[in-house]
Amino acid sequence: MKRSHNCGELTKKENGKTVTLDGWSHSRRDHGGVIFIDLRDRYGLTQVVFDPKHQEKSHKAAEHISREDVLRVKGKVRPRKEGMVNPNLPTGEIEVIVDELEILNKSETPPIEIDDRKLASEELRMKYRYLDLRRPAMIKNLVVRHNAAQAARKYLSSQNFLEIETPLLVRTTPGGARVYKVPARVSPGKFYSLPESPQLYKQILMVSGVDRYFQLARCLRDEDLRADRQPEFTQIDMEMSFIDEEDIQAVVEGMLKVMFKEAIGVEVKTPFLRITYEEAMSKYGSDKPDIRFGLELCNVTSELKGTKFAVFKSVVDKGGSVLCLNAKGCAKFSRNEIDELINVAKTYKLSGLAWAKVTNEGKLESSITKYFTEAELSKLAKAAQAKPNDMLLFAAEEFETAANALGFVRLHLGKKLNLFKDNDYKFLWVTEFPLFEKTEDGNSWQAKHHIFTMPRPESMAFLEKNPEKVKGKLYDVVLNGIEIGGGSIRIHRKDIQERVLNVIGINYEDATKKFDFLLEAFRYGAPPHGGIALGLDRVVALMCGNNDIREVIAFPKTKAGECLMDGSPQDWTNDFLKELKLKLDIVQKK
Ligand code: AMO
Repeated sequence: MKRSHNCGELTKKENGKTVTLDGWSHSRRDHGGVIFIDLRDRYGLTQVVFDPKHQEKSHKAAEHISREDVLRVKGKVRPRKEGMVNPNLPTGEIEVIVDELEILNKSETPPIEIDDRKLASEELRMKYRYLDLRRPAMIKNLVVRHNAAQAARKYLSSQNFLEIETPLLVRTTPGGARVYKVPARVSPGKFYSLPESPQLYKQILMVSGVDRYFQLARCLRDEDLRADRQPEFTQIDMEMSFIDEEDIQAVVEGMLKVMFKEAIGVEVKTPFLRITYEEAMSKYGSDKPDIRFGLELCNVTSELKGTKFAVFKSVVDKGGSVLCLNAKGCAKFSRNEIDELINVAKTYKLSGLAWAKVTNEGKLESSITKYFTEAELSKLAKAAQAKPNDMLLFAAEEFETAANALGFVRLHLGKKLNLFKDNDYKFLWVTEFPLFEKTEDGNSWQAKHHIFTMPRPESMAFLEKNPEKVKGKLYDVVLNGIEIGGGSIRIHRKDIQERVLNVIGINYEDATKKFDFLLEAFRYGAPPHGGIALGLDRVVALMCGNNDIREVIAFPKTKAGECLMDGSPQDWTNDFLKELKLKLDIVQKK
């Protein structure tokens, strides 16, 4: 007597049919001696009825059923009585009147409820993840993830990509993230790293002539965690030969289009908007702008060239910038609301935020306007396209700091003023990122992405003398303010690699020692190539309307990097240390 149907598929079409269902007892109600149980499985709920007038034995047994018992029932499908129909349930028009009941397994009283409306605490959800995953909302997330991943696989295969697995026990590879290390038992004193991404291996596959590679790759990074970062996560990782930026962008757009269509039925318009890093920072104060709403920034530094207002003057004299955000229609904001914005700016390293409201006559009004000439005020109003009832917000600082802080004020305003919807999907490419950034001490340069990124051809001339002007063939794909992927065209020629390495003070021979296997491989005819990796967890979380990627990962870690279900990371035991020939040297806390 195996199940004939699942718990989500019976409708009035099956009326009169004898069926067998398996599932969990979701809820039980007693109505005048008749017992109603909602039987639940991955596919849905079906109401099953135990009526003593119909079948006394199974009704008696049903009296002992409790939450989450595993049941098998056999009975006949019949229409629900008038007034009992549930239009919100696909099975809401029918019920199954039970002839036979088998209790396949009893459940202890579950520590959390399987109910989307009654979320348990974060800690309990993580500890009893198997119960949390029984919730329909979590099952839905797993289904969306599966469909998105399958769509990506199918699309990439159709485009001639080969799915190839790269190793998990590797040599440390270059990249920004700290890596996990694994002691090698058979070679005492040696260790493997766990890969932060398959970067070097996919480039080597291009040297092998694979031409188009992809992998749903597990990546491991020992970094501080946030809502959109996990120590283990999954990338849709790809690499292509004999291509340029537009080819990779076209593949990614095609792939995202089918992923969104097949996983959540959303039509994505392609091609995506493309803006440069410089434009993104100037307009939105972010290299991953949320373009579901406007509120663009403008640069008013030149309007304030000769200003007497000391706060702005000192910044402009030092080569800094004054940026302005026109908070449309916000002249009505209270002092508290303005302070809220100032606090956001302060969180992002601004010492303050100047503001001026626009009167009905279109004049700027605030405690600082007295420091400006009429001409300056009207130039500011014009630059910011100020209209009555707007409020202008000003940030004066070194450009990146001012832009970044105003970018966060913009996001705060977007949320506060309800300027965007969660189910509106706005993609864009951010391109032409700077190739280098100053090291923390400010004395030298380091690669912003990684050292194998190709400079843009028009930037080559700046490599030796003005590294700050060098732009890379780098691109990020952004969705609703979240970076969902990033990649680059790589350097495949030794002469260019040497020049890039020189900028960051590494000579080719030193680099060869560090990345020997890649640079060695490159000696034997490396084709021009490039690639990208998309964060699958982030894409799926956005599809499911979530900011927290843990909602779309079956077994995630907490913010402290722990799994409360399996208790990892676990204590090292003496046997473990002996086997690996290691000694612990940890100062014990009292
Ligand atoms: P990058 O480090 O930018 O590039 O990673 C690519 C994408 O992976 C996602 N991502 C993460 N998701 C969850 N948790 C994390 N800790 C995490 N870190 C990154 C993001 C990001 O955009 N090898 C290069 C790609 C390339 O150049 O081809 C790389 O890994 O969505």
